[in-house]
Amino acid sequence: MRYLTAGESHGPQLTTIIEGLPSLLPITAEKVNYDLKRRQGGHGRGRRMQIETDTVEIVSGVRHGKTLGSPVALVVTNDDWKHWTKIMGAEELPEDIDPSEIKRQISRPRPGHADLVGGMKYGHRDLRNVLERSSARETTVRVAVGSVAKALLNELGISIVAHVTEIVGIKADQNLLEGKSADEIRAIVEQDPCYCVDPEASAKMVEAIDEAKQAGDSIGGVVEVIVEGLPAGIGSYVHYDRKLDSKLAGAMLSINAFKGVEFGIGFEMARKKGSEVHDEILWDEEKGYTRATNRLGGLEGGMSTGMPIVVRGVMKPIPTLYKPLQSVDIETKEPFKASVERSDSCAVPAASIVAEHVIAWEIAKAIVEQFHSDQLPQLKAQLDEMRQYTKGF
Ligand SMILES: Cc1cc2nc3c(=O)[nH]c(=O)nc-3n(C[C@H](O)[C@H](O)[C@H](O)COP(=O)(O)O)c2cc1C
Repeated sequence: MRYLTAGESHGPQLTTIIEGLPSLLPITAEKVNYDLKRRQGGHGRGRRMQIETDTVEIVSGVRHGKTLGSPVALVVTNDDWKHWTKIMGAEELPEDIDPSEIKRQISRPRPGHADLVGGMKYGHRDLRNVLERSSARETTVRVAVGSVAKALLNELGISIVAHVTEIVGIKADQNLLEGKSADEIRAIVEQDPCYCVDPEASAKMVEAIDEAKQAGDSIGGVVEVIVEGLPAGIGSYVHYDRKLDSKLAGAMLSINAFKGVEFGIGFEMARKKGSEVHDEILWDEEKGYTRATNRLGGLEGGMSTGMPIVVRGVMKPIPTLYKPLQSVDIETKEPFKASVERSDSCAVPAASIVAEHVIAWEIAKAIVEQFHSDQLPQLKAQLDEMRQYTKGF
């Protein structure tokens, strides 16, 4: 199973083609749109998200609500495009065009963004050619892809949820997750402006985001994704590129501005002894194999253990700042202080939605790769068989 995305931030549309989905999978634009709306929300987002109302159009591979087995193509149009047709159009510019109709070339790279190095790499002196694609606007269609993957996981009895655990050092009380299923966590975070389970921490996060915005600064944080219902044995220990943890880590780090990833108790493992880290193995007739704890986050040897997968990613503060940072104009080579007009001050809540969807995709992909998967009913039967088999193993 694979997909590609195409589209610039202020181009006409974002496009994706997904190939390898099993046939007979129910998919609705309504569900995808719900996830797209969540990506647009969360406290701290800037004006662009007020301009756009992201909705998906399913333009291939689905008939009467179910996948055909052929490629699924999804399109999200950019409402802002109408203001950018001259600046971002594909046609050559007419020679008699009034220069005031074209926005000035961007020659001032922002520290922390792809502008400078992207310009060097592709030979663009107008850095707009870089930022239009390096922008996290692209994550819109990755959420659409993940939403389709979630539809598949749902059919297979697998639930996934993301939540924000930390923003600028303000930490949610993780004890509040105790005994809660992914769906229960979802019900809470869907009502919270920071997509956080802890209302007290969330109120402080809102304050911190507002303060950062006022100060012209930006802030980052940590998001956590939990996957429940995955049978043991998905992924493999036999080769580096089959390890599920490595695929999940790669997916997390593929999100714009994500700089670190951890599983279970994560980097805390460096401060603990083996007896305080490894999860003791239990068995009973009803549940089969379980663990006394889940400090390893549901993964051993690059494979799922049957316990919930718990993976976290850290997002750096957004690079575009109202508060200027030192940079160099690539035309004049003069130093200048970069300042901007339109940006998010904190996109951690929105990024948690992106994380949920890129992880959903990797899990779905690993399942589809491991089992016979041309048709959904066959795939379901095989997964059920795997669950039964591992229980009595
Ligand atoms: C949901 C989301 C929204 C983002 N919004 C912005 C933004 O408004 N302004 C900005 O400069 N960066 C934003 N970013 C981060 C940049 O896209 C990212 O820093 C940039 O692509 C450079 O990549 P790197 O940080 O991974 O090196 C956002 C990231 C995500 C995940």
